[in-house]
This record gives sequence, C-alpha cells and structure tokens, in this order.
Amino acid sequence: MRAEAEEFIRLHHAENPAAGDPQVRTAAVLAEIEATGTYVHTPAELAHGARVAWRNSNRCIGRLYWRSLQVRDRRHISDADGVAAEAVGHLRQATNGGRIRPVITVFAPDAPDRPGPRIWNEQLVRYAGYAGGPGTGTEPGSVVGDPRNAGLTDLALRLGWPGGPGTPFDLLPLVIEDGDGKPRLFELPPDSVMEVQLQHPEESWCEGLGLRWHAVPAIANMCLEIGGVCYQAAPFNGWYMGTEIGARNLADTDRYDLLPRVADHLGLDTASDRSLWKDRALVELNRAVLHSFDRAGVTVTDHHTESRRFLTHIDREGRHGRGVGADWSWIVPPISGSATPVFHRTYDTAESRPAYVHHPEAAARARGEFDL
Ligand code: ARG
Repeated sequence: MRAEAEEFIRLHHAENPAAGDPQVRTAAVLAEIEATGTYVHTPAELAHGARVAWRNSNRCIGRLYWRSLQVRDRRHISDADGVAAEAVGHLRQATNGGRIRPVITVFAPDAPDRPGPRIWNEQLVRYAGYAGGPGTGTEPGSVVGDPRNAGLTDLALRLGWPGGPGTPFDLLPLVIEDGDGKPRLFELPPDSVMEVQLQHPEESWCEGLGLRWHAVPAIANMCLEIGGVCYQAAPFNGWYMGTEIGARNLADTDRYDLLPRVADHLGLDTASDRSLWKDRALVELNRAVLHSFDRAGVTVTDHHTESRRFLTHIDREGRHGRGVGADWSWIVPPISGSATPVFHRTYDTAESRPAYVHHPEAAARARGEFDL
C-alpha cells in the first residue's frame, strides 16, 4: 500500500498543483498507514482518483468526458440499507430525466479490520433471467429474461425474493452485503429506473415485440482502486452506446438472441448464412435502439460518433503529455468495425492506476455462486 499510495499522491499533485506540497501530504499519508494500516483520501483525491480510473479504462471507448464524472462521496455509509438508498439516489441523479450524467457513488472502502460493503449485482439495473426446467412450465435450458443474470436471479429467489411478474424484463432486486458476507435484498422503486420501449423508424411490427432496455448502464461490482485503497462498492455509470444493446444484449445468442425473430419479421431468407440475414437484422435492431432512445429523449451515442470522439480523446491526452492505453478488441464496435476509424490502428495496451478492476470473487457473486 505504501508504494501505491506514494505513486498516487505524486500523480494527484502533478495534475492538481493547487493541492499543495506533495512531500507534506506523502509524509502524512505514510504516517497514517503506519498507525492505522490504511489512510483516508481527501475529497479532492477521491474525485480525481475516480476520474483518472475512468481515464485509465482501456476497454472504454467513451473516455473523452472523463473530467465530467460527478463524484458522490458516501464513504461514511457502510450499512446495506444505506447503500441501497444511495444506489437509488445515484440512479435518479444519473438519469436526470433522460439527459444522462456520468456519476459515481463511493461507499466505505475496505479497511484492515473491517471489509467495506459490496453490491453483488453486476449493474444497479439488471433484468431477471428465470431458468426453465422441471416444474417451471418451460423447457430445460431455456431462460425467460436475460440469461446473463440467471445465476443472480436464482440467488435472489433462494434469498426469498418472490420473483417479478415473469416478463422478459423484470427488474432484479439489489443484492447488498454490509461486509459481513450476508447478502440482503432491496427492491428498486420502479420510478427510479427509466426504460425505453423499442420501436423502429419504419417497421411497425417492431413495437409489438415488446422490447425495452434501461437508460442507465451502472456497473456495480467493479472495485475502484486508488493509491492502494479498495473501494469495493463504488457504482458508476456513463450513457449507452447503441450497439451495447442492439448488437450485444438483445442479439447475442447467449443473451436475448433476437436476430432470428427480427429477420423473420423483415422477411429475410434465414435458411443460409450467406443471405447475410444476421447482418441485416443487426442493422435494423440497432436503428430501432437509436431511434427509440432519441424519441424518448434519453442520451445514447452511436458507434460512429463515439469512435471519432475516442480519437479526439487520444489527441487531447497527447497534448497533455499522456498516452492512452486501449484494448482493441473492446474499443472496436461489435458491428461495422471497419467503417469506424478506431479499427484502423493499434493501441498501447499498458494498464495504469487508479483503475476499476474486476475481482474474481465479485464476478462469482454476480453469477450467484454462493451457498446459503
Ligand atoms: N455493456 C454493458 C451493458 O450493455 C454496459 C457497460 C458500460 N457501458 C457504458 N456505456 N458505460 O449493459
């Protein structure tokens, strides 16, 4: 922790001259670590650390606006009820009537004698996935809802969740733990979750499919690591890029798997891959996502715009003397990659801190891998 703390204080002071003498702050931090086993970030360090962690997210194409991240300092909150209430407050602040604002809420960090709280859900808003099989009236292997969340749905049911109405888009409750290893459930108030019903600009059958998606992608189970301190509960959000929904969540065969239905409605020949029916269905599904978000007045970006912005980001960072690490396989959009400028170049893959990191235990919890 000492080395990571020193490095972070150096970075913070180099980028924020108003923070004062780095040597004075470093000495104080090292003394605090010596005495308590950890140290407390100033509000300015926390805010800058959270923003730089976004700047350092090699998989994120949307980093141009990293400085605009709104930081809600809730480090005094560590109980599950408080975390749940503030998670709802986070959604309201981020949703902002549809003009989505990038927001992070930072709860109590892990301390040597006392782990901080944890949110088990992968995101604050997730749709249940009910597994079929004996006694469910649906086939084994089939899932009603989002198969990605089948594990967490099963865990919520085992924890006593009565289940939702049984639609493909039932909101999961939050699963939150104080740090004691005992998860508790909290339903999201429906009015805290904005959703967009999908329709297509020309194809009227689309609305009849009853598709929808939530407005705010708020990652809830990544750890914010700043200067050796672990903030396990620090949900953060940006706004959606349409392809995340139209080319992945609704289209992947292990998610909503909607391309065959869309292609049928479009009257495409699905007998052979070489008709490119999947490609054509993907484009129309993505048009429906962008059109619907626009009509609903909900912020969404498209992959062409965001690709250009990302190159602007690289230029701007370069002018500040900073390189931009990036993971090509995540940055290039899942459709029409070669039609975007981010495809036609390579990136430095080096990772920097502060950072948002996946802890393997957190990923396992989000899959519902937990014995009651
Ligand atoms: N891909 C994830 C999803 O579809 C969200 C990841 C974060 N995305 C963002 N635009 N900030 O839910």
